[in-house]
Amino acid sequence: MGKEKIILTGDRPTGRLHIGHYVGSLKRRVDLQDAGDYSKMFIFIADSQALTDNIDNPEKVRQNVIEVALDYLACGIDPSKATIFIQSQIPELCELSFYYMDLVSVSRLQRNPTVKSEIQMRNFEASIPVGFFTYPISQAADITAFRATTVPVGEDQEPMLEQAREIVRRFNYIYGETLVEPEILLPDNAACLRLPGTDGKAKMSKSLGNCIYLSEEPEEIQKKIMSMYTDPGHLRVQDPGKIEGNTVFTYLDAFCRPEHFERYLPDYPNLDELKAHYQRGGLGDVKVKRFLNAIMQETLEPIRNRRKEFSKDIPAVYEMLQKGCEVARAAAAETLADVKKAMKINYFDDKELIEETIKKCDICYVGLADTDGTPYVLPMNFGYRDGVIYLHSAQEGRSISILERNPRVCITFSTDHDLVFQHPEVACSYRMRSKSVICWGKVRF
Ligand code: TRP
Repeated sequence: MGKEKIILTGDRPTGRLHIGHYVGSLKRRVDLQDAGDYSKMFIFIADSQALTDNIDNPEKVRQNVIEVALDYLACGIDPSKATIFIQSQIPELCELSFYYMDLVSVSRLQRNPTVKSEIQMRNFEASIPVGFFTYPISQAADITAFRATTVPVGEDQEPMLEQAREIVRRFNYIYGETLVEPEILLPDNAACLRLPGTDGKAKMSKSLGNCIYLSEEPEEIQKKIMSMYTDPGHLRVQDPGKIEGNTVFTYLDAFCRPEHFERYLPDYPNLDELKAHYQRGGLGDVKVKRFLNAIMQETLEPIRNRRKEFSKDIPAVYEMLQKGCEVARAAAAETLADVKKAMKINYFDDKELIEETIKKCDICYVGLADTDGTPYVLPMNFGYRDGVIYLHSAQEGRSISILERNPRVCITFSTDHDLVFQHPEVACSYRMRSKSVICWGKVRF
């Protein structure tokens, strides 16, 4: 175990993906996929997790599974390089979650800041579904099932990763080194960490209606950008403006590259100069917004076009997902097998366990003679008590005891395999396998 670098990440299918997802994680995934530094990459649609707070709205989750898959493909996630799958189709994840539940306390879950704020946001307070409350545990299962070393996600997922790491450490401490401890990979650009909504609110979210979606049409994009939140104190062009908390500039920080100036705003050499002019006064919001619009149109056009192409063959998208699920399931099954082995609940594939149990059960093979002298062998359990050897035949359901001093009883302990022994009275030999106690003689049934 160890050196293999594996990426895993996922999204809840509660809506189409937006540009916050794009800069926060999607773009990075495509770069990572193409860089080839990682031996495997798993990207999944967290429908089970989405259901934890949408249990009465399965249709929404179902529809958004395909929307998210299309968004992935549109962004350039390539199914020949990354395994794309759907969480609910991997039952191994439920099993892992079930075992991990014993490693996490209720108070630890209550302290998880993401869970805390989500509970508040959804007004769950007194009636939190257990599945929702424990989703950080299932997320740890998602991550560890694929032995992920690296999880590229947004900043809001940090508490989830910490929880997963704790579970891994606890598991490995109790059961021995089995699981891989994952690391979070955050966007390196501060503006991408948490892209605000177009209204300047901290989070871009469907319910706030402040998103620009990856599938958005050009006119819609333009409309949303032109009405974006800027600096409320910047009323006239000549007024000095603020950059901090000005969403248009935050978006420029996230999306603007030097070549965009040559193409769309050659009066300025770079973003710093543009910002300086805005702060000095004399630069109007509309000009900056137009520049941002040009950049966003350039960025989103190829994504939108690819999305349309993939939408033409929906069966192929489902087929791709189904194949991804098969690959993912095989990977998760391997980890589950390791986990069950470590937890000693692998009864049927453990040769050592069977061997050890045989030893503990004191099975022996007893050679006996019929009344007419014909020898035969009986597998039996045995035990000693008060100078008497008790044998119990599992096969015949009879118990026998052999008096220790009976001179005609001969007992041999042996670990040999393929042991040949001689009947002392009836001249014949027996060949038998396995650890054995052999006794010859008269027995009382
Ligand atoms: N909680 C993530 C979100 O809300 C989705 C998710 C579920 C996830 N399991 C994961 C992300 C495992 C990374 C790794 O976006």
